[in-house]
Amino acid sequence: MEFELKVLLFIIVVAVFTSFADGDENGGQIEALLKWKNSLENPSSASLFSWDISSNSSFSPCEKWVGIICDDGFVNIIHINLTSMGLKGMLQGLDFVSFPELVTLDLSNNSLYGVIPKSIGMLANLKILYVNANHFSGSIPSAIGNLTKLKGLHLSLNHLSGNIPKEIGLIASLVDLKLPMNNLSGSLPAEITNLTSMKILLMGNNRLSGYLPDSICSGGLLERLSVHTNRFIGPVPKDLKNCSRLVRVRFEENELTGNISEDFGVYPMLNYIDLSYNKFFGEISPNWGSNQNLKSFKVSHNNIAGSIPSELANATKLEILDLSYNQLVGKIQNELGGLKLLFNLELNDNQLSGNVPTEFRFLSELAHLNLAVNRLSGLVPEEFGQCSKLLYLNLSNNKLTAMVPSQIGRLHSLQDLDLSHNLLTGELPSELGYLSSLETLNLSHNQFSGYIPNTFDTMSSLTAVDVSYNMLAGPLPNSKAFRNAPAKAFEHNKGLCCNAMMKKSKRKYSKMVLVSIIAPILSTLILLSIILGTFFTRSSRARYMVEPEGAGERENCVTIWGFDGKLMYESLIQATEDFNPKYCIGRGGSGSVYKAMLPTGQVFAVKKLHEIDDDDDVANLKSFSNEIDALTEVKHRNIVKLCGFCSHAKYSFLVYEYLEGGSLAKMLASEEKAKQLDWNKRIQVVKGVANALTYMHHECFPPVIHRDISSSNILLDSEYEARVSDFGTARILNPDSSKLISFAGTFGYSAPELAYGTEANEKCDVYSYGVLALEVIMGKHPEDLLLSLSLPESIIGHRFTVKDLLDHRLPPPEDPVGEEVVFTIKLAFSCLQTKPQSRPTMQQVSQKLLTRKPTLSDPLEMIKLEKLLVDQIL
Ligand SMILES: *[C@@H]1O[C@H](CO)[C@@H](O)[C@H](O)[C@H]1NC(C)=O
Ligand SMILES: *[C@@H]1O[C@H](CO)[C@@H](O)[C@H](O)[C@H]1NC(C)=O
Ligand SMILES: *[C@@H]1O[C@H](CO)[C@@H](O)[C@H](O)[C@H]1NC(C)=O
Ligand SMILES: *[C@@H]1O[C@H](CO)[C@@H](O)[C@H](O)[C@H]1NC(C)=O
Ligand SMILES: *[C@@H]1O[C@H](CO)[C@@H](O)[C@H](O)[C@H]1NC(C)=O
Ligand SMILES: *[C@@H]1O[C@H](CO)[C@@H](O)[C@H](O)[C@H]1NC(C)=O
Ligand SMILES: *[C@@H]1O[C@H](CO)[C@@H](O)[C@H](O)[C@H]1NC(C)=O
Ligand SMILES: *[C@@H]1O[C@H](CO)[C@@H](O)[C@H](O)[C@H]1NC(C)=O
Ligand SMILES: *[C@@H]1O[C@H](CO)[C@@H](O)[C@H](O)[C@H]1NC(C)=O
Ligand SMILES: *[C@@H]1O[C@H](CO)[C@@H](O)[C@H](O)[C@H]1NC(C)=O
Repeated sequence: MEFELKVLLFIIVVAVFTSFADGDENGGQIEALLKWKNSLENPSSASLFSWDISSNSSFSPCEKWVGIICDDGFVNIIHINLTSMGLKGMLQGLDFVSFPELVTLDLSNNSLYGVIPKSIGMLANLKILYVNANHFSGSIPSAIGNLTKLKGLHLSLNHLSGNIPKEIGLIASLVDLKLPMNNLSGSLPAEITNLTSMKILLMGNNRLSGYLPDSICSGGLLERLSVHTNRFIGPVPKDLKNCSRLVRVRFEENELTGNISEDFGVYPMLNYIDLSYNKFFGEISPNWGSNQNLKSFKVSHNNIAGSIPSELANATKLEILDLSYNQLVGKIQNELGGLKLLFNLELNDNQLSGNVPTEFRFLSELAHLNLAVNRLSGLVPEEFGQCSKLLYLNLSNNKLTAMVPSQIGRLHSLQDLDLSHNLLTGELPSELGYLSSLETLNLSHNQFSGYIPNTFDTMSSLTAVDVSYNMLAGPLPNSKAFRNAPAKAFEHNKGLCCNAMMKKSKRKYSKMVLVSIIAPILSTLILLSIILGTFFTRSSRARYMVEPEGAGERENCVTIWGFDGKLMYESLIQATEDFNPKYCIGRGGSGSVYKAMLPTGQVFAVKKLHEIDDDDDVANLKSFSNEIDALTEVKHRNIVKLCGFCSHAKYSFLVYEYLEGGSLAKMLASEEKAKQLDWNKRIQVVKGVANALTYMHHECFPPVIHRDISSSNILLDSEYEARVSDFGTARILNPDSSKLISFAGTFGYSAPELAYGTEANEKCDVYSYGVLALEVIMGKHPEDLLLSLSLPESIIGHRFTVKDLLDHRLPPPEDPVGEEVVFTIKLAFSCLQTKPQSRPTMQQVSQKLLTRKPTLSDPLEMIKLEKLLVDQIL
């Protein structure tokens, strides 16, 4: 008995050995595998190391070879699973004829390329064919239809092209067909209808086109259907309506049409359906609410009309509901507040009206809510404050009214808040500043008024902000987002000033430092006396204070246009060769101006300030540079842009944009250049300066008084557009009072009242503006005229006509600019009135300059100045 068993075993062993080694009917398998292995690009790579017959027992292919499983008799290989083995090469080298019993061929996730050979049709018993995630190209061989026992066919993620062969309809047993992410084209073969066992049918991300077959769920077993991102047209298959086992459906990104009210049924297992980006029409049937397992329902970008049925709230498992970009009307049903698992709700870009339901407070999981671009009215519900997981809230482009509820400030996770284009009013609640995760904030195009709360200073995550088109006033918050925002983010308000310093105006500055840094052309004597005075008090105090030390701490470069401060400092020093006089383009009381051309081609005007050598100024410099930082944010067409400020142990300087035209004073002084500045350009200059001063006086809060308007402070760009320089520096000089300023101003431009120690106000600038306007018309400083103006009118009025006043280097102005010139003189006279309260405001000046002027009744030489003096305009 035992002997017989041994003999039997021996026979089996010999049989198996010979069958593998000697190449009888099945012996071809081992040879075929080895031959294929050697055809690969990396045959000796570790992954197929075990595929070696010479080394060991004859049973090795079935026992030891990786990925190979034989049948019970060790005769036939039935499974080949070489997934994720890093194989590179073609399939041509594999002789499929040798594997008649093969059931599984899994070669997925390798780097196999070339075509899928048609000889694959010889694998008559194959049930699983996975070659997905390789680099196969060419078309799907029609021989695939020979694989009649196939249940799973995975070809996704290759470069397959051409049509899906109609022979696929012959694989009646097919359960799982995955074709996504190839380059398949043409229409779906009608034969696919015959695949009644099908449960999973995926073909997204191809170039398939034409109509879908009428019947795609003929067996009623279909669970997953995905045809997304193709070019299918026409209606969805008719039998989808009662394809009741559907779990996951993706139709998005095609050109499908049809009435969604009729084409879909109730699917008790449906978990996910995406119909977005198609041309579906009709209404959302109340039936959708009966899909008890639905978690995602996406229908955006279609032509769905009608209202949102309240029954939708019966689909209580909904997490994602996206009905955006349709033509939905009616109100948002309060019942939607019952969808407690809702995480993402997008109803934007429809025509929904009515209120935002306060029931949304129950949506405790809600992270993303977009109701933008509808016709919603009423209030922003304060109940939103309870949606504590909200990350994104977009209510823009509606008709929401009244104030923003302070409870919005409780949304600590909120990253994006868009309330723009509504009718919101009132002051912004200071609680908004507590939105510490907020990254983008759009409040533009509303009717918000008052100041922006100072809590906004602390919004450290904020990167993008827009508060334009409101009625806001006052200083802008001192946060990075506000500093870096473009000017248009603030435009059209009641006077938002890009100047954070106003809030801190109670703070004391070291007058000495500030004055010595940037006094705009102060009389040197007066300046000196002030310096000495404050230096005295300073240094006596300094003795009792512990001051920071070390030159390193004095390096303090305010970032310029996003440049790294230290880098910028070094580039500027290099560009001016350590402030070599050959780069000097101007001198002023506070320092010399150098032209610095960076290697990048950018040109700056660098104003090097007098050296600061008092030890205790580090802290002051720091606060001072904060102010400069704020000033760098001022962007006005007629104000020279201050780009930054550097203070360093060695040098301190202000960095301005460089203007090619130089100063107005220089231009008028040059015979040749003055001729280029024709009457039209001169009127432009007068208007430009008026605009800048209007901005400073009326759009900044509190107003900024320039205090030193003169032709040397007006620069011209290459288009002769005027730019006022040293904007705001006067304010930094003395945030507490205007006393110091009584000395300021350039001789010949300062208002008479300053001589009597009156405090400077806007009207001083108006006076200086009058002088400047006359200077532009006359081509020289109007000192004689000013002198005679203070005399009784009759003397000058009788003697001179308009023509006498004009710059004789230019031909006399003709209409229509002649009218403008005469009007400008008139306006200048009204600015030069001795009583400050009689002078117009800069806003009035700007407005008058904009209005159409009456045509001249007399030639210029006939218009007596007297007439212009008497004939006050304002
Ligand atoms: C042959 O197989 C034996 C036992 O299975 C093993 O110890 C030995 O290392 C193998 N030899 C080679 C060369 O693979
Ligand atoms: C192939 O093997 C991997 C594990 O190595 C397994 O996850 C996969 O299901 C197998 N393929 C088939 C078709 O059984
Ligand atoms: C695919 O194969 C690589 C190794 O070649 C492996 O790192 C990766 O995890 C595999 N991917 C999948 C989805 O199995
Ligand atoms: C289809 O299978 C039969 C046997 O089952 C075989 O004779 C024939 O060659 C196969 N055709 C292709 C194209 O592979
Ligand atoms: C996809 O197929 C088209 C022809 O049908 C061909 O022009 C295109 O190059 C293919 N794209 C890729 C990525 O293979
Ligand atoms: C579907 O299969 C039946 C037989 O099972 C056959 O008669 C019919 O032609 C097939 N239809 C298509 C479209 O292949
Ligand atoms: C769908 O309904 C049609 C007609 O009502 C019926 O013929 C077909 O068998 C149904 N299919 C399923 C999967 O229930
Ligand atoms: C869509 O189907 C519904 C239900 O049959 C019908 O009432 C509605 O008029 C249809 N809409 C369109 C636009 O055809
Ligand atoms: C569906 O919702 C409606 C109204 O919202 C309600 O009356 C009805 O009872 C709900 N049906 C089910 C099955 O929950
Ligand atoms: C809010 O929605 C509108 C309209 O869809 C869009 O233009 C805007 O960019 C959205 N805002 C944010 C912050 O995403």
